[in-house]
Amino acid sequence: GRPGAATTTQPAAAAAGGGRSRTVISRRDFFRGGLLASLAVFAAQFGGATLAFLWPSIKGGFGSVIDVGDVNDIRNSIEQSRQPFYYGAGRFYIVAYNGNGADSTYAGLTQEGLMALYQKCVHLGCRVPFCQQSQWFECPCHGSKYNNAGEYELGPAPSGLERFALSVSGGRVRVDTSLIVPGPPRGTDTTSQRPEGPFCVGG
Ligand code: FES
Repeated sequence: GRPGAATTTQPAAAAAGGGRSRTVISRRDFFRGGLLASLAVFAAQFGGATLAFLWPSIKGGFGSVIDVGDVNDIRNSIEQSRQPFYYGAGRFYIVAYNGNGADSTYAGLTQEGLMALYQKCVHLGCRVPFCQQSQWFECPCHGSKYNNAGEYELGPAPSGLERFALSVSGGRVRVDTSLIVPGPPRGTDTTSQRPEGPFCVGG
């Protein structure tokens, strides 16, 4: 029975050897595959971030036309809170505008009594908060003040606040942050709004 046993063990050993070498190859493939996969993930993330940086409109953030929300919701929010509707991702405020410049000073910028103001102070660029008491925008950095339409009132700012074109269609408010519109010059006053209470910022 020996020769028979020898002939049966040899193919078995060969099969075992082949199995071992297949295991090594497949492990190498596994690592190579993992590396390729992580490279692909990295490339996708990097590529996505680059695209988002180059074309912010893909993200719907600052630099694009932003769908801010329902016109009635925004109007109600402004009315109830007695302050502008702030949209941080777009760096603007939406204010209720009922001054007399809708067809002149702000033609093409305001619609349905709403207007979008850039949050950045035209003096040296601080974000300008709205003061609930005075109902004006008051810059904490050097005390520039703007009325509720973002028109220059006091301080070192050279003009009114910059702004963005706002449009309403199908009940949705859209603000185009791709184009910064210069603020109206000092002396522009289309609302005749006096401070409605004490200032938040002195000076
Ligand atoms: S940055 Fe606003 S007053 Fe100077």
